[in-house]
Amino acid sequence: MKEYTGPEADYYDYCFVGLEGDMQFYVEEAQKAGSPVLELGCGTGRILLPIAKSGATIVGLDRAPTMLALLRQKLTKLSPDVQGRVSLLEGDMRDFDLTERFPLAIIPYRAFLHLLTAKAQRQALTCIREHLTDEGRLIFNVFDPDLEVIAAHLGPLGSAQKKDSEFIDPTSGHRIVVWATTQYDPEQQLIEQYFIFEELDADGDMLARTYRPLTLRYVHRYEMRYLLELCGYKVEALYGDFQRGPFRAGGEQVWVARRA
Ligand SMILES: C[S@@+](CC[C@H](N)C(=O)[O-])C[C@H]1O[C@@H](n2cnc3c(N)ncnc32)[C@H](O)[C@@H]1O
Repeated sequence: MKEYTGPEADYYDYCFVGLEGDMQFYVEEAQKAGSPVLELGCGTGRILLPIAKSGATIVGLDRAPTMLALLRQKLTKLSPDVQGRVSLLEGDMRDFDLTERFPLAIIPYRAFLHLLTAKAQRQALTCIREHLTDEGRLIFNVFDPDLEVIAAHLGPLGSAQKKDSEFIDPTSGHRIVVWATTQYDPEQQLIEQYFIFEELDADGDMLARTYRPLTLRYVHRYEMRYLLELCGYKVEALYGDFQRGPFRAGGEQVWVARRA
C-alpha cells in the first residue's frame, strides 16, 4: 500500500489541515457522548489528540503504520495523563475486533471514502456497529460530490496539474511544493488523485520529486443514508457543515447515526 507513506505521511500535517470547525465539532461530540471514543482512520492524531486532551479516553485505529508512528511521536511529548487516555491500533476499519464497546465512533476527514467498494463500505459499517453500545452513535463526514467539478474532471487525462500547497519542511528547511491532479470515474464513483511533492533547495533547484496516488470513492447523499439503514443504523441528523448548518448539494455530508 503506497497511500499515506513517505512524504504524504511526513507532510500530512502541513498539507491536509482539515475543514473549518471539524476538530471543535468532534471534540464537542466526544464530550457529549462520554468515554471511550473510537476513531477509525485516526492518522497522525489531528482529531484524536484534541479529544484526548479534552479529557476523554480514545482508541485510534489506522491501517497506515507510518501515520501511527507519527502520532506516537507526538504522544511522547504530551503529559502522562493524556498519554494514558490514548490506545492506538494498526488495523482495518472493515475488520477489527475489540473487546470494548463505545458510546461514540467517529470517522473524521472523509476517511470513509477510502473504502472503494460497496462491499467494503458495508463491512466497515457493520464492524463499527458491533463495537457500539446499544445507544452508541457513529458520526462522520464525507464530501458531497459536486456535479460541476465532476464534469470538469472527466476523461483519461483528468485535470491539469494544479498547485495544492507550499510550506517549509521544519526538519530540512527545504521548500516543499505540492501539486495535484484529479480524475473522476463516474461509473465507479472513483476519484483518482496524484499528489506530487517537490523538494526545492534555497536556489529553487529540485532535490526530489515524489508521486503519491490517492483514490477515493465518493458517495451520494441518499446512497449514504440507505447504506447506514441497511447496516443497522438510524440516521439522527445530516448536517452540511460543522456548525450544524443545513445540508447543501456539493458541500459536506456530516452524518450522525445511532445504532438501531
Ligand atoms: C484523510 S486521513 C484522516 C486522518 C485523521 N482522521 C484526520 O482527521 O486528520 C485518512 C486516514 O484513514 C486511514 N485509512 C484509510 N483506509 C483505512 C481503513 N480501511 N482502515 C483504517 N484506516 C484507514 C489512512 O491511513 C489515513 O490515515
